[in-house]
Amino acid sequence: MTADTSALPTTGQPRTASAYMPGFGNDFETEALPGALPQGMNSPQKCAYGLYGEQLSGTAFTAPSHQNERTWCYRIRPSVKHTGRFSRIDLPYWKSAPHVLADVTSLGQYRWDPVPHADAPLDWLTGMRTMTTAGDVNTQTGMASHVYLVTQSMADAYFYSADSELLVVPQEGRLRFCTELGVIELEPQEIAIIPRGLVYRVELLDGPARGFVCENYGQKFDLPGRGPIGANCMANRRDFKTPVAAFEDRETPSTVTVKWCGQFHRCEIGHSPLDVVAWHGNYAPVKYDLRTYCPVGAVLFDHPDPSIFTVLTAPSGVEGTANIDFVLFRDRWMVAENTFRPPWYHKNVMSELMGNIHGQYDAKPQGFAPGGMSLHNMMLPHGPDREAFEGASNADLAPHKLEDTMSFMFETRFPQHLTEFAAHEAPLQDDYLDCWTSLEKKFDGTPGEK
Ligand SMILES: [Fe+2]
Repeated sequence: MTADTSALPTTGQPRTASAYMPGFGNDFETEALPGALPQGMNSPQKCAYGLYGEQLSGTAFTAPSHQNERTWCYRIRPSVKHTGRFSRIDLPYWKSAPHVLADVTSLGQYRWDPVPHADAPLDWLTGMRTMTTAGDVNTQTGMASHVYLVTQSMADAYFYSADSELLVVPQEGRLRFCTELGVIELEPQEIAIIPRGLVYRVELLDGPARGFVCENYGQKFDLPGRGPIGANCMANRRDFKTPVAAFEDRETPSTVTVKWCGQFHRCEIGHSPLDVVAWHGNYAPVKYDLRTYCPVGAVLFDHPDPSIFTVLTAPSGVEGTANIDFVLFRDRWMVAENTFRPPWYHKNVMSELMGNIHGQYDAKPQGFAPGGMSLHNMMLPHGPDREAFEGASNADLAPHKLEDTMSFMFETRFPQHLTEFAAHEAPLQDDYLDCWTSLEKKFDGTPGEK
């Protein structure tokens, strides 16, 4: 679709208000100035307004056509003018895999209280705190999980990650992502996906912001196949929102920081790189409101595996075995008869990092606070604490609505390794294992319920 152009700015003024087009992976087209987008071709001899045509490829040129993603940009300057001579910089809290430390034990079940804000002002880059890494950024497999603590907007400073797409999960405070392809405003209970290679700046919209990031080194996030569920429910394509074109024509000293193979490099340029006036294609940032996720679940007895709550999945090379699944535990009705309704005890070949966005999680009524995280690594058992087990085992099984709850999981096929920050600086709960200590042996050799 083409965006409404009736309220367009004149050249030179940034369009900062966010407006969106619906759909996931659509072939979008949008222009911030009338006639800026070539029709019927990609690369005319001369583009309107003196713009430069440029392709941003998100997949290999020769990827299967149903996976092929690219966007054509029509911009004030080509991207070669948005980089210069790079100097290596240090962002000591943003780590990349492989990051396996001899003196840190990742084997175990871990839980953290919310990471508090620091005293020093932090922006999107300096405020990123890596908790775990998995796989290898150099082979484009695996992921990292981060907490961001942002108290300062980026000003005349821009960033892109060549290593990864970023799945952003706000927990506190609103953010504005001013990207090459448009503006996304994001609040808690929404998520955004920022593609690999896309240049952007992050601003605060009100107070301090905290949240979670899954940095996906591998193939892009996609919607999971619904199988017998059919064409509806779970995350529906129309609820994903991609921004309309917006550009800045601003001549001011600026920096561009690039994450590349786990290292950070910075260069200086004399203008804003967010200068795409029009674009078309299917490689673009997107946001999604988690409150529109339509959960499907048990309606008589037992309950399905938690994969039933998958919002997005990023494939690995093994069919059905995700590099990353993003899974949502939101409010929903519990109606199963003669059933232990919370998540059962289990041990998983995948590694599960959970975060609490809002409210109380049903398997852990205490200790897993909004902003908090837990890690249940590959083949480490976990499940309800004693309070949850006893409560669910003895509950009157009338229909019951889980309310005021929203947690998520970054689940990966690769073991997750703790960073120094996660092991030593973040508020790790020393007593987390105690939540299972008081589970009783009920077996006494006699039949019947205990
Ligand atoms: Fe689990």
